[in-house]
Amino acid sequence: MTEYYAPTYVLFGKGAQNEVGRVLKERGIKKVLIHFGGGSVVKSGLLGVVEASLEVHGIHFVELGGVQPNPRLSLIRKGISLARSENVDMVLSVGGGSALDSSKAISYGVCYDGDVWDVYGRHVAPKASLPVGCIITLAATGSEMSNSSVVTNDEVTPNEKVGCNSNLGRPAVAFMNPELTYTVSAYQTGCGSVDIMMHTLERFFHSGPAFEFTDQSCANVLKTVVKYTKVALENPCDYEARANIMWAGTVSHNGFNNVGYDSIGDWACHKMEHELSAFYDVSHGAGLAAIWGSWARYVASVDYHRFAYLGELVFGLNDDDCKVACERTIVAFEECFRSMGMPTSLKELGLSLSTDDIEALANAASRGGAIRLGNFKVLCEDDIYNIYKAANDR
Ligand code: NZQ
Ligand code: ZN
Repeated sequence: MTEYYAPTYVLFGKGAQNEVGRVLKERGIKKVLIHFGGGSVVKSGLLGVVEASLEVHGIHFVELGGVQPNPRLSLIRKGISLARSENVDMVLSVGGGSALDSSKAISYGVCYDGDVWDVYGRHVAPKASLPVGCIITLAATGSEMSNSSVVTNDEVTPNEKVGCNSNLGRPAVAFMNPELTYTVSAYQTGCGSVDIMMHTLERFFHSGPAFEFTDQSCANVLKTVVKYTKVALENPCDYEARANIMWAGTVSHNGFNNVGYDSIGDWACHKMEHELSAFYDVSHGAGLAAIWGSWARYVASVDYHRFAYLGELVFGLNDDDCKVACERTIVAFEECFRSMGMPTSLKELGLSLSTDDIEALANAASRGGAIRLGNFKVLCEDDIYNIYKAANDR
């Protein structure tokens, strides 16, 4: 059985950001906390546009900027205090996935009597949240419709990066204008596209039988991102490219491509990447690209045919020998990541790790050996160590 729940009202297309005030007013929102990142939305003028739209419709607001990529718990605590003292009834994120995930954490924290880190590090399921809205400026995480948010605890050393999955975390409203992503750097465009692809690959490689409709839908996301990332990198202001990548990003992570798979997918690469981000503050998409090939080769023997089929669907690859076809598929994805300016090893990611470093990562990813990762192939701490090591030795 698969659950598919998509409660988010989406406004997609040119000018979507101008409708924020109207849509929130229709929903009875009276005061919002506008939450944003390190300044891109100030520089672009988007923040002013959102403020004006809210003012026209009589919606009050307070603001908190400064969300860093890999959003930090310390700022979330400030946001919770502010949201409470100002009595806001929505957290409105303006920016990328980090601002949005920080907003989701604030919305849990406002409605929770204890420490908001309980919801993340201690896995206490949230029971209530304020509604969250978002104006998305980067196509990557799919957080605009996902149940997920990922927070970095910067109050411990090494930092801990942990996600919370709850249907309460699905935004109430999402405003998505692909034009707002024209200013995203080539590097962040690459990171975003890899993240979108990985949200699909994590699902495609799941335990349980295949399901043709969803296999084809996964292939559609992957082919779309491969095709249009090339265009967007050549011409950052190509609307068709930015729009296709943006919607592919949403569909990749809103649960649509889980239906029929009977499991939520593998997610080992994501969990392993979150440790890389926690320890070394790397960009999520780049971290994923740096380890995926090593993961793929480590687990391929579970089902060479599945890899071969993926290569056929996405790149039109064929070979009678399924092992050869599998390797060609992995190589094709790695070449694709490189063409997006992304690393395919930890060295290319800028890391050169010692045995102790790798042990520490594997220990953190497996919570000291207490948990296993993945379900296409279930990985214990030793397996996780071997994959990090392979990514480090490449
Ligand atoms: O902070 P500002 O100044 O806004 O700059 C950001 C940031 O430096 C910049 N940026 C965003 N939109 C821009 C722009 N620059 C120019 N023009 C624009 N239009 O891009 C940089 C990265 O932003 P960030 O929000 O960190 O990126 P992303 O959207 O990739 O979010 C990454 C975070 O989301 C988590 C990741 O782990 C990471 O912490 N994830 C969240 C998921 C979810 N909630 O469902 C799922 C993912 O698997 C992922 O784990
Ligand atoms: Zn991701």
